[in-house]
Formats: sequence, structure tokens, C-alpha cells
Amino acid sequence: MRIFSGIQPTGAKHLGNYIGAIRQYVATQEQGDAFFCIVDLHSITVEYDPSELRESTLSLAALLFAAGLDPERSTVFVQSHVPAHPEAAWLLGSVTSFGELRRMTQFKDKADAQEFVSAGLFSYPVLQAADILLYRTDIVPIGEDQRQHVELARDVAERFNARFGETLTIPKAVFPEVGARIMDLQEPERKMSTTGGTAQGTVLVLDPPDTIRKKFKTAVTDSGREVVRSPEKPGISNLIEIMAVARAEEPEAVEAHYDGQGYGAFKVDVGEAVVELFDPIRDAYEELRGDETELQRLLARGAEKARKASEPVLQEMYDRMGFVKAKTGRLFGAARPKRL
Ligand code: AMP
Ligand code: TRP
Repeated sequence: MRIFSGIQPTGAKHLGNYIGAIRQYVATQEQGDAFFCIVDLHSITVEYDPSELRESTLSLAALLFAAGLDPERSTVFVQSHVPAHPEAAWLLGSVTSFGELRRMTQFKDKADAQEFVSAGLFSYPVLQAADILLYRTDIVPIGEDQRQHVELARDVAERFNARFGETLTIPKAVFPEVGARIMDLQEPERKMSTTGGTAQGTVLVLDPPDTIRKKFKTAVTDSGREVVRSPEKPGISNLIEIMAVARAEEPEAVEAHYDGQGYGAFKVDVGEAVVELFDPIRDAYEELRGDETELQRLLARGAEKARKASEPVLQEMYDRMGFVKAKTGRLFGAARPKRL
């Protein structure tokens, strides 16, 4: 089975990314042939600082390995190292409609937050479709907010196949059972995010332990005092999901454990559980981030594997679409009469 997912290097990675995505990457790498892509080309579609892109790309690579991606099993690579991605995106642009891109909720949300709305932000989901389809992907582990983008990738693949003949595999999105949408601790009506959320309500994977403890202690709770999930209790429901993941228990078990104990003690315990969850990741991260040569070596190896896997699919797309194949210089040379 082929597994593929992508994650943006800009913006510090938070508990939502970890629970919704990274943790799933680590679990799915056991199930098949997995590719995880640091999507730096997607990161330039909103305002960003070029002087920070390099650091955030290497930092994310170190974090992915630290969280448990095994370079012997999974292919971890940087999107811009594999030119097939933007090439395939251009080809797929011809089977993606303006109307469907305009309906993407992430585009609408991000466009509202930008002074300059780039053309890249609009065509962002086409590049994402290219990422996925170039690897004949069966499953895409992601958080809930990416559901619409993977739906689009499926529609685009089906349209390509209908128009040019069976070429692309139709991918399927998979979401974690618990924690597909982790909410901001201060404003539990919105998702945790470094761009849209509050700083105090966003727990970073690399936050120092005391910062993590404080963020949970000050988390907003709801009226009442029962530790149970309910639509009227978005704050507590979110904390129960986080606790379930951190302690590797069912949410029901968390509710039973805190029956009759009130919110205060529960919040302190969730904070402690997350500190314990992130401690080993932060240690491994620091070690890896300190060895840049090794990190670059791992990424170079990943890029080579990714190029090998994606190149035949790109060539098949060109063929199906009717492009003339480029002949090599040597062939032309051989056909020409020899000059004396
Ligand atoms: P990004 O950092 O935007 O590239 O997101 C990387 C992955 O994290 C994607 O699979 C998202 O669906 C997932 N993700 C982002 N925010 C959250 C959240 N608040 N809860 C759960 N998953 C999330
Ligand atoms: N758009 C995704 C996000 O913001 C990142 C992404 C890019 C991705 N390419 C992908 C996710 C391919 C899954 C598969 O989270």
C-alpha cells in the first residue's frame, strides 16, 4: 500500500499537527510504502520570510524524524527537491476548474487574512493534488481540515483518467479516530493553529515543559464541572481528546477516571501528560537538529527515492496528454552524417 502526506515547513508545529497528522504518519509507516513531504513550495503562497524558510524546513525534518519517522522505512523529502511536483501541478491545472478552486474553504479563510492574495494561494490545491497523485497514493493521513483538498485530488484524478485514459490512482483520506480536529485551548470554537489561533491556546511541540503546563492550566473550560464530552462543552471535550491521545486510552476511560473530580485537577493532569508525550521528542529533535550534515544526507536520500517513484508517473501523464517526447542529444548526433 502506498501512503503519502505533506506538511508545511512554515509556522511552528503544534499539538494539533502532532495529533492530527504526525502521529498518524508514524503509525501508518508500518502499513506500507510511505512518503512524507515537507511542502516548502506550498509555504510561499502566503506572506513569508525567505530568511526563515531554510531553518524551518530543516527544523521540520528534524522534528519528523524525532517524532518517530524511520528513514529506513519512510521516504521523508523536501518538495522543492523534486521538480516533478510543480510540473505535474501545471498539467493537472488543465483538468481543475476555476469554480472548484474558488469553493475551497481554506482558500477563502486564508485569502481573507491576506492583504495580497497570490495566484499561488488560489492554485495551492492543484499542487497538493500533484503531490498525492504522483506517487499512485492509496491513503493520505491528514487532519479534518484537509478533507476538502483530498476530495478535490480525487475529482481531479478521475477527470484526468476519464479524459486521457486510466493513469492515476484514486487516493483515500484517512483521519485519526480521536483528535482529527484539535481546538485552541483559549478559544475552543476554532482549531488550534499558529496562524489563526491564539498564542496562549496553541501548544507547540517544542514549547518548554513549563510553558506547556501553563497553557493547560489556563485553558478555558465550560460551565458545569463534569469531565464528559458534549457539544455544549467544547473546551472540556477537546481536553478529553488530548488526554486520550497522550495517555493512549479511550476517551471513555478518561471520563471514567475523572468522574466527580472537577476541572482543576484534570487540566493539570492533561498538561503533565502532554509534557511527558513531548519530552522524548524534544530531546531527539535537539540532537538531530545539531547534526545538519546527517539531516541533509537523509533528505538527499529521500529526494532521490521520491524522484525515482514519481518520474514514471509524470512521464505517463505527459504521454497520455499527447506531448512529444524529448529525444536525447546522442540520438540526433548518431543520425547526422559525419563531417570530416
Ligand atoms: P500544516 O501545518 O497546515 O501543513 O498541517 C499539517 C497537518 O496537520 C495536516 O494534515 C492538517 O490536517 C493537520 N492539522 C493542522 N491543524 C490541525 C488541528 N488543529 N487538529 C488536527 N489536525 C491538524
Ligand atoms: N495542504 C496541506 C496542509 O496545509 C499540506 C499538504 C500539501 C498535503 N500537500 C499535501 C497534505 C499532500 C497531504 C497530502 O496541511
